[in-house]
Amino acid sequence: MIKIYAPASIANVGVGFDILGAAIIPINGTLLGDCVTVKLSKKFELINKGVFSNKLPTNKEHNIVWKCWFKFCQAVKKNIPISILLEKNMPIGSGLGSSACSIVATLVAINYVFNNPLSSKELLLLMGEIEGEISGSVHYDNVAPSYLGGLQLILEDSDIISHSLPNFKNWFWVIAWPGIKVSTAEARKILPKKYKKDVCIKNSRYLAGFIHASYTQQSHLAARCMQDFIAEPYRSKLLPNFINTKEKMKEIGAISCGISGSGPTIFAISDNIKIAEKISLWLKNNYLQNETGFVHICYIDLKGVRKIG
Ligand code: HSE
Repeated sequence: MIKIYAPASIANVGVGFDILGAAIIPINGTLLGDCVTVKLSKKFELINKGVFSNKLPTNKEHNIVWKCWFKFCQAVKKNIPISILLEKNMPIGSGLGSSACSIVATLVAINYVFNNPLSSKELLLLMGEIEGEISGSVHYDNVAPSYLGGLQLILEDSDIISHSLPNFKNWFWVIAWPGIKVSTAEARKILPKKYKKDVCIKNSRYLAGFIHASYTQQSHLAARCMQDFIAEPYRSKLLPNFINTKEKMKEIGAISCGISGSGPTIFAISDNIKIAEKISLWLKNNYLQNETGFVHICYIDLKGVRKIG
């Protein structure tokens, strides 16, 4: 038997639509992600637990975990009976890589129980494929950080799918999930099919600037480069009062603020804990729409997926 934890993540990181993703962990040490326990069994069995398990589909075959098991069996060309316990701690459609947490934890747990028949590259490819089936197109910017940890640059090169970037150790990432759902598939559908040349150039310039600033550890340049011309202009309407909230974040002292993944989670960055605490308090009082919403001050989680039992 094995218990695996996979952390939540912030996809896009403002400037890297489908290209950048960061795994996160609250600074108070609590875990923010899904857990999956797998053990050998006579027949396939799936048990759902956790705060958000009541939001999972009732039909077992529509559960991501089932899909992971099914795809894994196809990949290794064997039908493997196992018992899986999913602790669904992440809200679905939150913009925090909830589906990625379940996919990563499940595939790593199953692979471990069967003595790792799939390599880490094969696993990551399978994670991307399953994420793609759920959201409408393959994107690795949640599964890669959740699996590998840290800040990931998605290369999708023939050899390397994802590469770690240096991150800023003094950055506090305040995240606020307002307690409402945004479907990633829907949030992808509302984006334009084509972008104008000047938008593409500007986006390349800021993304290149961010990567340069990361390698040269110029944190304020990196923060200034975190601007989203691809998704935010179209998705901001899906978030509660996003434009004013973003202005308020800057006013309090955030060095950057944006949409986490496809939203509705918002993230704001500060290198000062006092400012991060002020941001956190303001978001708690003003951004949350109901009692299920939450705010956390986080670090980048460098470990990624891990065995916790
Ligand atoms: N890059 C993806 C998107 C992440 O923004 O659609 C989804 O969580």
